[in-house]
Amino acid sequence: MSKPLEGIKIIDFTHVQAGPACTQLLAWYGADVIKVERPGAGDVTRSQLRDIPGVDALYFTMLNSNKRSLTLDTKTPEGKEILTKLIKESDVLVENFGPGALDRMGFTWEHIKELNPGMIVASVKGFSDGHHYEDLKVYENVAQCAGGAASTTGFDDGPPTVSAAALGDSNTGMHLAIGILTALRARDTTGKGQKVAVSMQDSVLNLCRVKLRDQQRLDRVGYLEEYPQYPHGSFSDVVPRGGNAGGGGQPGWVLKCKGWETDPNAYIYFTIQGHAWAPICRAIGKEEWIDDPAYMTAQARQDKIFDIFGTIEEWLKDKTKFEAVDVLRKFDIPCAPVLTMKELANDPSLRASGTIVEVDHKERGTYLTVGSPIKFSDMKPEIKASPLLGEHTDEILESMGYSQQQIKDFHERRVV
Ligand code: COA
Repeated sequence: MSKPLEGIKIIDFTHVQAGPACTQLLAWYGADVIKVERPGAGDVTRSQLRDIPGVDALYFTMLNSNKRSLTLDTKTPEGKEILTKLIKESDVLVENFGPGALDRMGFTWEHIKELNPGMIVASVKGFSDGHHYEDLKVYENVAQCAGGAASTTGFDDGPPTVSAAALGDSNTGMHLAIGILTALRARDTTGKGQKVAVSMQDSVLNLCRVKLRDQQRLDRVGYLEEYPQYPHGSFSDVVPRGGNAGGGGQPGWVLKCKGWETDPNAYIYFTIQGHAWAPICRAIGKEEWIDDPAYMTAQARQDKIFDIFGTIEEWLKDKTKFEAVDVLRKFDIPCAPVLTMKELANDPSLRASGTIVEVDHKERGTYLTVGSPIKFSDMKPEIKASPLLGEHTDEILESMGYSQQQIKDFHERRVV
C-alpha cells in the first residue's frame, strides 16, 4: 500500500524525545527518514535506561521506528561535504540540538537555503527565538515548569508537579510535525522551503490554554467555581493547583473503588455532567436528589460537591473499577477506570486498533510500542523496528553516488 508521505526525504538530526517523536510520526506515514548520528555513539537514548546490556534501549526503539540510520561526523570536512550533498537532495531537515549548534556546525538557515531553496528546516528549542531564555537547554520537566503546566498541576497543599505525559517533548514533536506538513503544503504552491520553529514552552502553554482562561477569570471575579478551593477555601491572585478537578464546566474527581486500600489504581474518574444529574442519581440509588432544590442545579450542588463524591464512593465500595464503569456506562455517565500501564499493554482493544503494537527488533527480539494514534480509513501504518546504529550508512552513501572505495575510506577515517 503506498503511503501519503512517500517521496519526502527527511534528514533527521534529532535526539532524545521531542525531535524523534516528530520524525517517527512522519516515517510511519511514508517519509524516508534518515537519522543522522555521531559515529560510535549515536542518539544518547540508545544507551539510556537500558534493560538489556549492549542492546538499544526501549527509550530509543520506541521513538525511532521506521527510520534509517546513517552515522556521520558532521564536524569533519568530509562529513560536512556528505551532509551538503544530502541537503541538496532532501526535502526537510529536522533538528533539536541545543541553541546555536546547527549554526556552529556551519549549517545556518541562510546557508541551507542557498544549497536547496526548497528545503524546510524544522527546529525544536526550549524557548522561541528572541525569548529572554533563548540560550537555555531544555528537557521535558523544565518545559512543563516554563509552560505553565507545573504551577497548575498537583494538589493545593503540595509543590508544583509535572505530568507523566510528555507535554514538553512528544507534544512539541507533534506540533513540529504539523508545522512541517504545513510548510510542505506551502512549498507545493510556492516552490520555496521555509524555517519552521517550535518551542517547548509554547507547546506546553498551548495545551495549558484553559489555565490562561482561568487566570483571566480569576483576575476578573476573584474565584474559580470549578476548583476544589471553591467555596470553602481561598484563592490568591494566581491560578491554583486544582488536584483532580474537572478542568471544564463539569465537576469531576478520582473516586475510590473496591480494593483501593491495597491497589493504588482501584479508582475511576467520575464526571457530573449537568444534564446527566437525573441518570447519576438513578445509577447510585439517590432518586430523592433528582428534584431536591438543594441538589437539582449545578450551582446548588457546588458547595457540597465533595459530599456528593463521598456518597458516590459509598456506592462504589463493593464494585471494582471495571464493574463500576459497566454500570455507569448504561446511564451515559462520562467515566473511565484509572488504567495502569500493565492493563494498557494487555488491552485487547488497543492491540486490535494498532495503538499498542508488538515489533520485532534484530537484537532485542519482540517489544511493545505505541503505534499511530491517528487512524486513517485508507492507510494502516505498519510499525517497523528502529534501526541499529549506522545500519543503513553504506546503502545511503551508495545511493548518493559514493563508490565502495570512498565508503571504505570514510569508515577508516571515522567520518561515518
Ligand atoms: N557529528 C558531529 N557532531 C554532532 C553530531 C554529529 N552527527 N550530532 C550532534 N553533534 C554535536 C552538535 O554539533 C553539538 O556540538 P556543539 O555544542 O559543540 O556545537 C553537540 O553535538 C550537541 O549538543 P546539544 O544538542 O546541545 O546536546 P546536549 O546533550 O548538550 O543537550 C539537549 C541536549 C536536549 C538539552 C539540547 O539538545 C536541547 O536543549 N535541545 C533543544 C530542546 C530539546 O529538544 N529538548 C528536549 C529533548 S527531548
